[in-house]
Amino acid sequence: MNLKDLYIEFFESKGHKQIPSAPVVPENDASVLFNTAGMQPLIPYLMGQKHPYGTRLCDYQKCIRTNDLDSIGDTYHHTFFEMLGNWSLGDYFKEDAIKWSFEFITEKLNIPLEKFAVTVFGGNDLIPEDKEAIELWKSLGVKEERIAKTVEDNFWIAGETGPCGPDTEMFYFRSNDPVPDKFDPEDSRWVEIWNNVFMEYNKKVDGTIEELPNKNVDTGMGVERVTSILEGVNDNYMSSIWKDIIEKIEEFSPYTYEEKPESMRIIADHIRTATFIIADPAGIRPSNTDQGYILRRLIRRMI
Ligand code: ALA
Repeated sequence: MNLKDLYIEFFESKGHKQIPSAPVVPENDASVLFNTAGMQPLIPYLMGQKHPYGTRLCDYQKCIRTNDLDSIGDTYHHTFFEMLGNWSLGDYFKEDAIKWSFEFITEKLNIPLEKFAVTVFGGNDLIPEDKEAIELWKSLGVKEERIAKTVEDNFWIAGETGPCGPDTEMFYFRSNDPVPDKFDPEDSRWVEIWNNVFMEYNKKVDGTIEELPNKNVDTGMGVERVTSILEGVNDNYMSSIWKDIIEKIEEFSPYTYEEKPESMRIIADHIRTATFIIADPAGIRPSNTDQGYILRRLIRRMI
């Protein structure tokens, strides 16, 4: 079974309803050019509105992030990617979210604990360290040296304002090197694969933070990264998702992928992103404003 089906089936077995992916261009949110995360189309529901499908949702969402453009060319960043997600809208919270993430990773994806590590929110003036998340990970068998605390990287918000909260991120050691005992989130051999955000706050325009009516869970797992792990490759672009595109580029090029990996990754990434922008129901075409400008830039960079 492929990763997306495995994920949806797992969360359906935990009482979630699958919702369809929204288009890449937001339908009712002019504050962003593209959906950058699975939670974006769900913002009104995270803010307290009732969702017609209930309080437990899951999906895979088409996402575009242009803030990572300079990282494109490495083995694991993509402008267009798909995000698997599960949400609790005022239903379950930290304990179930963490337990289910752990169950999915170890029992469905068969990722060994040996190659697994997490980060948790370390606390600041406004919000305390997430001791509960640390204790939950420990109770599941994650060793202390595989739990790192950060502040900035463990607080998630889609933009400047809106629903937000501390998070816990899960990492996989994607390398043939021996796995270090102590986890260092800055070591790029540890690849982030999943994020669980405990969305209980709303950041307002004046910068202050208030509690949301509900304590929500928002998660996001990268389809491309996890597929490469399941297929045993250390480069996303060598996985089945990208193989055909890379082979086609090699066919047109005097070089092989081994000779020009970065350029070919950029071309592959931008072709895929441009295709999804053009295919979106919003009817975007290259232009000098908004989404059309991004599309034009991607095509130019690729050329
Ligand atoms: N919204 C969270 C993220 O994108 C899950 O990482």
